[in-house]
Amino acid sequence: MAIVHVRSDFPDFGLTESERREAVLGHYYEYPGMDGDRGEIWCYTDAWSYEPGARVTLFVSSTAPTFAIEIFRDGASVEVVFEAENISAYWQETPDQCSVEGCGWEAAFDFNIGTEWPSGAYRVRLTAEGRKGAPIACDHLFIVQPAPGRKAGRILQVAASGTWAAYNSWGGSNHYQGITGPERNQFAPIVSMERPFGRGFVRLPATAPRVPLEITLPPATVPRYPHMEWAYANGYSKKYASAGWASYDSHFFRWAESAGYGIDLVTQHELHFSPDLIGFYDCVVFVGHDEYWTWEMRDAVDDYVDRGGRVARFAGNFMWQTRLENAGKRQVCYKYRARAEDPFYHAGDIRRVTNSWEAKEIGRPGAETFGLNATYGLYAGWGGCAPRGARGFPIYRPEHWAFAGTGIYYGDVLGADSHIFGYEVDGLDYVIRRGLPEPTGEGNPPEGLKILGLGLSSLKEESADIPADTQFLGDEDALFVANVLAGNHGDAAVERYKRGAGMIVNFPRGKGEVFHAGTCEWVSGLLRRDPMVERVTANVLDRYLQR
Ligand SMILES: [Fe+2]
Repeated sequence: MAIVHVRSDFPDFGLTESERREAVLGHYYEYPGMDGDRGEIWCYTDAWSYEPGARVTLFVSSTAPTFAIEIFRDGASVEVVFEAENISAYWQETPDQCSVEGCGWEAAFDFNIGTEWPSGAYRVRLTAEGRKGAPIACDHLFIVQPAPGRKAGRILQVAASGTWAAYNSWGGSNHYQGITGPERNQFAPIVSMERPFGRGFVRLPATAPRVPLEITLPPATVPRYPHMEWAYANGYSKKYASAGWASYDSHFFRWAESAGYGIDLVTQHELHFSPDLIGFYDCVVFVGHDEYWTWEMRDAVDDYVDRGGRVARFAGNFMWQTRLENAGKRQVCYKYRARAEDPFYHAGDIRRVTNSWEAKEIGRPGAETFGLNATYGLYAGWGGCAPRGARGFPIYRPEHWAFAGTGIYYGDVLGADSHIFGYEVDGLDYVIRRGLPEPTGEGNPPEGLKILGLGLSSLKEESADIPADTQFLGDEDALFVANVLAGNHGDAAVERYKRGAGMIVNFPRGKGEVFHAGTCEWVSGLLRRDPMVERVTANVLDRYLQR
């Protein structure tokens, strides 16, 4: 196992102090023309997932007149499945608000997915010659769905594609920052899938930092953000470590295939548009940073579990309701601005407003589906939010079946060496009696829910050491959550809701069952081959697959 080396100095990527500030607080993103004289090639596909045998249309904009394409299936091994060369391309005009409207490019190339290509993620790599002769390249990704039919003993992994869409800032805007509004400084409540992915969403070098700090923070230190510094220094998306196949979903898929599980892959769009698909499986898995869901996606999961399905969620940040528009080509989420701006507050089904699932007007608390929610959890292990906190889950119920064979004890911390706790976690309100946590019932958790592990998180950076104008997280989320849960963001409300927890929970629902380790970083335990994290993962999968 690759144990994390715990140092007390931040990794440094050669940025000056002002560049470091820009790396964290600035808004930088990929856009056509950004590489100037070097030339560029960019691409996207007409969908993010396809049925076997479907036709894929590739949209390409390139400074080079021709390009080559390679497609790899990205599983336990990486296999080339398709290659072609000398395909014509040209530079295409891109609308200023392409992040919202889509790029609208003309098609460059079509190909058919082989009917024998197994379900999974397929990386597209385009290469061409730059203006000065040096090679240029880009990466994209699409998912091949499984063929319909009963899949006894196989896992269905649902990629967190809503979160990919939310964080992709190609063209200038995502659900966090953007170039929309009169001052060109607002995040985009509507984001398009018809654009390339930011650099690092599809493919990353192993040296790319993850979000949680891998150092022991010395006393009275201003935290730094190695992932954003690395992104800025190396020309990657500011959000590469927040979302995407490369940082999250791929690590579970590869681990499962390597461990001998049969595993298929879909996007959240299939939950939304083809909800019957998950009914073919004994176990459905969600991993990584999984923050954005539609009402219909939750219906699909709730119905599946009620009918006897088993869900394993090794993921964090169950936070926002989204809507899909244009046959799924656009995702809508007004978030912090929902009550002021989401048109569904005035004309539409009020339950579908794009606010936190905890907003009373929606009437569907997040914990009803996955046992936990983001408003009682949130940040851990970075910035001014528990930067020296639990790196794994403190365990309270070691006798639970999920821990069989791990040798874990009461009070042990699961996954500390591989740092699985963070950087966003899901929790619940709880009390601890005689050393055991129980849900208080706030946030409407399901009957029979057991809290197996629990670590602390925070909604707010509070520090005598971090100047307010350098805080990345600040108090925005604490104010927002206070508004959602208490109806105001006064000091008393913020005080009441600013503390969170990340939990592992297990509960029955209908004829089925849910296991939920509410952390984005669970995949880090699989990536770093932490034997106890691997064993818990296998215990859950084996039980749910009845292996
Ligand atoms: Fe998030």
